[in-house]
Amino acid sequence: MNEFDIADVALADAGQRRIEWALQEMPVLRGLAERFGRERPLQGLRLSGCLHITTETANLARTLKTAGADIVLCASNPLSTQDDVAAALVKYDRIPVHAIRGESTEAYYRHINAALDHSPVITMDDGADLVSEIHKSRPGLLDDMLGGTEETTTGVIRLRAMAAAGALRFPVIAVNDAMTKHLFDNRYGTGQSTLDGIIRATNVLLAGKTFTVVGYGWCGRGIAMRARGHGAHVVVTEVDPLRALEAAMDGFRVMPLLEAAAQSDFIVTATGDKHVVDRAHLEAMKDGCVLANSGHFNVEINIPALEVLAAGKHRPRSHVDTYRLADGRQIHLLAEGRLVNLAAAEGHPSAVMDMSFANQVLAAVYLATREQRLDNAVHPVPAEIDREVARLKLAAMRIGIDELTAEQVSYLSSWEEGT
Ligand SMILES: NC(=O)c1ccc[n+]([C@@H]2O[C@H](COP(=O)([O-])OP(=O)(O)OC[C@H]3O[C@@H](n4cnc5c(N)ncnc54)[C@H](O)[C@@H]3O)[C@@H](O)[C@H]2O)c1
Repeated sequence: MNEFDIADVALADAGQRRIEWALQEMPVLRGLAERFGRERPLQGLRLSGCLHITTETANLARTLKTAGADIVLCASNPLSTQDDVAAALVKYDRIPVHAIRGESTEAYYRHINAALDHSPVITMDDGADLVSEIHKSRPGLLDDMLGGTEETTTGVIRLRAMAAAGALRFPVIAVNDAMTKHLFDNRYGTGQSTLDGIIRATNVLLAGKTFTVVGYGWCGRGIAMRARGHGAHVVVTEVDPLRALEAAMDGFRVMPLLEAAAQSDFIVTATGDKHVVDRAHLEAMKDGCVLANSGHFNVEINIPALEVLAAGKHRPRSHVDTYRLADGRQIHLLAEGRLVNLAAAEGHPSAVMDMSFANQVLAAVYLATREQRLDNAVHPVPAEIDREVARLKLAAMRIGIDELTAEQVSYLSSWEEGT
């Protein structure tokens, strides 16, 4: 077994129990493990995963190993690792894990490089850090790469930028863009778990409060929907006129963030963009505002500006940093501006990760079993995989659907028939 670097292997039993609990809600992944345990399509392939080390990721790693992969894991965020899960994977699965919750930036990159020392032929990223590190500092790995897969919007954006600049030197499948991923994971997963993170961190009541969601993409829609369910007055801010219009017609108040900042009790960012909450917004912010981020990187809130504006700072609860401004106002920043749903709660519920990770497994098998390597580009998940995941999930939920009749097939493919 390769070296590993985790917090404490003695936590393994607690991790094991939680991984098994999560597996109950992951029927699609269980079905794939059964099938690929027989077929072993990833036999002997070295795979490095840079993912949030959660109970769901543990079940993904176990499925990949059952399919034959030789797998190593590192964290895709310094604050999202569940140390008991890392311990269980090391102890019970002998999967080398390099991840410690709260690790420094230096340790984070050391762990990424430890995962790359495995010489992967397939990478599985959540934020494109493995791909980026290989291209920047480990070019010796490029020639043998079959390809990579990417879990999140921000990673896909980074990869498309690399491809557009002609810099991408192996193919990557954008798992995030599969319908069975972002329609459910980004919307319902981030929606529920972001609210869960905010509530666990603060234990404050949402009903009757003004709750602003910055960005009405897949994540933002889910967060807004769930905040409304808690009885909050939800405001949406956007830069895209179509998304802003959609939010307005979905019944949310839409306004510029500067206006919203002065009246919000909560502001949550989910844009994949930088400094969307900037100094001017901080200066206008209502006293006692709770500030959180669910976008991939901790750059959405301008934390350096907050540090400059602050006359003092203390930590009243874990995951809450209270900044006192010179005029006496207080701003409560959650989880140091990192993904609040993973840092202060447990990330997405297993039932949505079931679909996201089924796409990951099928995408890895697709890369591994092709006769010819794909082009060096960002590729969509093949539509058959997407439909297969939806079909399997429906079957697991015991939901039946109708089929087109022969008459309907013919009608839908003809142009002669009109009124
Ligand atoms: N927390 C999680 O577990 C989790 C899960 C999935 C995705 N993500 C991350 O969340 C982020 C958003 O993902 P998504 O799938 O919703 O993306 P998306 O592209 O669907 O939506 C992003 C939205 O933000 C808007 N936006 C950009 N800059 C803005 C600004 N300055 N002010 C207001 N709106 C702005 C865009 O117009 C867009 O509508 C990404 O970083 C993604 O990687 C996090």
